[in-house]
Amino acid sequence: MTRPSGVGGAPVFKMEELRELQPIEHPQPADHQSNPQPILPKGYHRRRNVPLQPRDLRPPQHSRPSAVPLCERASCPSPALISAPRKPPKLTNALHSDYKDDGTNILLDANENAFGPSLGPDVTTAAGSGLDVDFLGLHRYPDPHQGDLKQQLCNLRNTHAHTPKTLTPDNLFVGVGSDEAIDALLRCFCVPGRDRILTCPPTYGMYGVSAQVNDVATVKVPLLPAPTFSLDVPKILDALSNEENIKLVYVCSPGNPTGSVLAKADVQQILNHPTWNGVVVLDEAYIDFAPEDASLAEWVTEFPNLVVMQTLSKAFGLAGIRLGAAFSSPPIAGLLNSLKAPYNISSPTSALASYAVSDKGLAIMRDNLAKIISQRDRILAELPKIPGVGRLRGGTESNFLLFEMLDAAGNPDNTTALAVYEKLAETKGVVVRFRGKEHGCLGCLRITVGTEIEVTRFLESLRTSLNEVRGS
Ligand SMILES: Cc1ncc(COP(=O)(O)O)c(C=O)c1O
Repeated sequence: MTRPSGVGGAPVFKMEELRELQPIEHPQPADHQSNPQPILPKGYHRRRNVPLQPRDLRPPQHSRPSAVPLCERASCPSPALISAPRKPPKLTNALHSDYKDDGTNILLDANENAFGPSLGPDVTTAAGSGLDVDFLGLHRYPDPHQGDLKQQLCNLRNTHAHTPKTLTPDNLFVGVGSDEAIDALLRCFCVPGRDRILTCPPTYGMYGVSAQVNDVATVKVPLLPAPTFSLDVPKILDALSNEENIKLVYVCSPGNPTGSVLAKADVQQILNHPTWNGVVVLDEAYIDFAPEDASLAEWVTEFPNLVVMQTLSKAFGLAGIRLGAAFSSPPIAGLLNSLKAPYNISSPTSALASYAVSDKGLAIMRDNLAKIISQRDRILAELPKIPGVGRLRGGTESNFLLFEMLDAAGNPDNTTALAVYEKLAETKGVVVRFRGKEHGCLGCLRITVGTEIEVTRFLESLRTSLNEVRGS
């Protein structure tokens, strides 16, 4: 695998060496759809209305496993291993907000899209809506390849702003949110108990949580201080040169909770590390809130050691359907696809995702985006007028903002921020996220941009809460 001299520099990346574990042949229950990927011709969607053509009736490329019980198969863990599992990893409850939705709360804590999904009001009326959920076909397993959806995602990201090359479905893995890709990459490239990942705090918690679950340690190289929150490139390069067994670098652009887009040149320097043989994972969950052409997804056609993750959970407002994508070189996409559960994307999820990235869905997404940006500007203008609100930390290139809360002496303070956070949730029904314990985020709350009504209630509630907490 070589890297083009024009963009990348000297080729270093050798996946054969990085990927020590060979792809595993997963045994499947005999009465289940075993080996579903090879049985279906690529690109063929098992729909009721699509008749089988002779060309589709190719023999499976792999034989089905024999009908022996699972645990008798060679690749299954032995009973001894099952009764003596490896030390359970310490789990953190990073997934759930402390405050649940009681139907009246204003939820500005999870960076969801308060303006709703990129779906028109017509989606519930099947005819002519553009939404193609085959409800009466739900007794069939979904398409394991998702070729059509992958092509749509490629069309969206083939901007040719960063390369003349073109993404194809072979560059894609689609999963149950980008959280599936975060975990799948760890399982692909890291040997439990030995290998490590590198993260740059403050950053998205799931990189560390997934690593912990997979018994993979994390090396941390913090971002440079606010307000830039940019990558500390010399320290990252140094760590990759000197620390052993770092296989993956997870970086986030725009960052969560920083809201800053990473400099393209900084990412490129890591990709071009002269000796490190690992993969850079660029998380672009919030990329549609950033300026146009900020996505580096198409760069995976230039750098075989780059993975770019995206999701429909944020700008597209579809957190509920769980659809994430990882763009990469075909060999990495191939690994991720061979490792995934066969039918990880349900038919309704696929149909809804396909609608969202169609022209109709994109128009709705862009309309909602404009509303979010307008409310984001409003928060930016109004928050500094509230006594006790400190500086904006980080950037504005996302659907959330990170602001300091100040104590009575005017200093950023975690006690104040935590008290305000609790007061907002418990007495005002407004849920934001306390981020004061993250690196470089002293006294900070992260506020997801909501609708106009939600922002109005948030601003009023914050003013009162700060007043009550600071006693002024
Ligand atoms: C940076 C980042 N990456 C990934 C995710 C998870 O996205 P998904 O819903 O696709 O799993 C989030 C969710 O908050 C996020 O903030």
